[in-house]
Amino acid sequence: MVDRNGWGRDRPVLTGSPRSPPASFVEQANVSDPGIYDEFEENWPECWERAADLLSWDQSYETVLRDENAPFYQWFPDGKLNAAANCVDRHLESGRKTHAAIRWEGKHGERVTYTYRDLYVAINEFAAALRELGVEEDDVVTIYLPMIPELPIAMLSCARIGAPHNVVFAGLSADALATRMDAADSEFLVTCDGYYRRGDAFNQKSKADNALLKLEQDVRTVVVDRLGDDLPHVLGDDEYDYHELRELFAGETVDPVPRDAEDMLFLMYTSGTTGEPKGVVHTTGGYLAHAAWTSHAVLDVKPEDTYWCAADIGWITGHSYIIYGPLALGTTTVMYEGTPDYPDRDRLWEIVDRNAVDIFYTAPTAIRAFMKWGPEYPDRHELSSLRLLGTVGEPISPRPWNWYYDHIGNGECPVVDTWWQTETGAVTVSTLPGVDEMKPGAAGPSLPGMDVRVIDEDGTEVDPGDSGYLTIARPWPGMVRTLYDGDERFRTEYWDRFSDPENDDWRYFSGDAARIDEDGYITVLGRVDDVINVSGRRLSTMEIESAITGVEGVAEAAVVGRSSETTGTDVYAYVSTEGGYDDTDVREAIVDSIETAIGPIARPTEILFTPELPKTRSGKIMRRLLEDVANGEELGDTSALRNPEIVGEIQAEIGEE
Ligand code: WT7
Repeated sequence: MVDRNGWGRDRPVLTGSPRSPPASFVEQANVSDPGIYDEFEENWPECWERAADLLSWDQSYETVLRDENAPFYQWFPDGKLNAAANCVDRHLESGRKTHAAIRWEGKHGERVTYTYRDLYVAINEFAAALRELGVEEDDVVTIYLPMIPELPIAMLSCARIGAPHNVVFAGLSADALATRMDAADSEFLVTCDGYYRRGDAFNQKSKADNALLKLEQDVRTVVVDRLGDDLPHVLGDDEYDYHELRELFAGETVDPVPRDAEDMLFLMYTSGTTGEPKGVVHTTGGYLAHAAWTSHAVLDVKPEDTYWCAADIGWITGHSYIIYGPLALGTTTVMYEGTPDYPDRDRLWEIVDRNAVDIFYTAPTAIRAFMKWGPEYPDRHELSSLRLLGTVGEPISPRPWNWYYDHIGNGECPVVDTWWQTETGAVTVSTLPGVDEMKPGAAGPSLPGMDVRVIDEDGTEVDPGDSGYLTIARPWPGMVRTLYDGDERFRTEYWDRFSDPENDDWRYFSGDAARIDEDGYITVLGRVDDVINVSGRRLSTMEIESAITGVEGVAEAAVVGRSSETTGTDVYAYVSTEGGYDDTDVREAIVDSIETAIGPIARPTEILFTPELPKTRSGKIMRRLLEDVANGEELGDTSALRNPEIVGEIQAEIGEE
């Protein structure tokens, strides 16, 4: 994967022309002093007090970082605070009682606003109910809810009483839920009867029931009635109705429990290098400080804003940037249930228009879909309230980046391409929108106080223009503290590969490959396991994809390796075009673009046109599955796909060739 053979060296870096942040943005930005980089560097780790100072502490911390027991770092270890009090209570005291905390847009056009006061009442009542059900401090509460207001209410109620939450994405299967509850030894579950998927009532409770059948422990379950008469349900033993509980505890208050900064705030399961999901442990002080600070410095959130991260709270993006970061800052956070194209492709832009959204944060996969649908949808809505755009989750190549900038931002909003992971807790690499030039296709430099380095196999930093492993050389507040499954796995997953414990030199390995340029801007090339070796030369499938998606008429592409007797691996490309066509001109343009960007070595042996690419429910292209299809292998479980039917279509297409 590393650029050992020199391929790609001296080749054009796949970034578009740099753009400066608009002066009108810089004038009002939370952070606009370029001196912040030096200030943080010279004053590390105390610089992170700037993040911690955004929070209210019950007991102030004296130590910023404790690193004697690396890689088990501790941040602000002697401080105490409560995350729910930081996200809700303190805003009541500062006169924001009637300010909207959450604006919820339901799938069927329902709209509900929770003021900070409403949220306070809800989480107090539900915290009281959870206690009555037997939830004690440090008990893990699993939450298996779709994008309804009860999801953040349940999370914040747990935080209030010091019970770590373990949110499982509602679209995951019963088996996935059971695995996560079992691994987390969780005896409490908050779920719902069902929810609407496109137009239809979908039974969530039966999935939860099936999960519980597989568990050995007894579980107490709270059920939110989302569907009413559309899906009647009966509660069994150890099952409680959310709304009845709220009524039972109406008007009750529960004092927020002061937690040690290093106490666990939540667990989040994510996929690892083995089949077993990893239970990423996040803490109360460091995580919240990092989420709040990056919401302030990168997303430029201000209390008077209406801010919208169109992700799902079931993943880390929603935890950090729908709930904890924005609410810690006292802003209005929009939460929507559904998909960008239901009931129509105007949905998102209607929400921006109606709520006068200031900041919009989404994923490249969504941006590529908008591009494919065409500009007429955003064009017919008033989007001038927008001030800043963000993207997260995958590399974004210059073409969709520019499309986002032009058609959604009207050329007036900076775009922040934020690289981070479940494990980093919050944004790690990005431009500061009020300070830095943007380079479409490159996420940006390490944030102030972060120390991201691109290194080769031996741990040496690569030269500008070269690629290597994306690692982090110093700890940071939002970092994963350990894996719930054990410290040993924590070390092997992230630290063993590049650290030198004897010299107390610790390197966190992200699992990603990246290239760094002369300005320190990082272009993330993708997971290391997405890298293929063709004739002994290492190629990034992401980079080939970027070349393909740069071609006019192409909507999306996925590149995988296909075993070959002659080359070891061949490049195999799946492409969907804007018009859904297979066109010789497009085919030729793709080959040209790849040869220009990387070289003939990256030329695909096969380009297969398909109407869509198979994707997970969180929108990630399932490259591994496509790799299996290309290699004619047995397919594993496709139930985690949003569009499983497309796999059969692709297989049929290949069969006909
Ligand atoms: C992986 C982490 C962070 C929240 C969403 C995903 C990829 C993430 C970017 C970006 C290129 C990105 C990386 C990373 N990734 N953001 N801006 N540019 N790649 O969290 O599920 O933990 O996935 O997503 O490969 O390792 P996650």
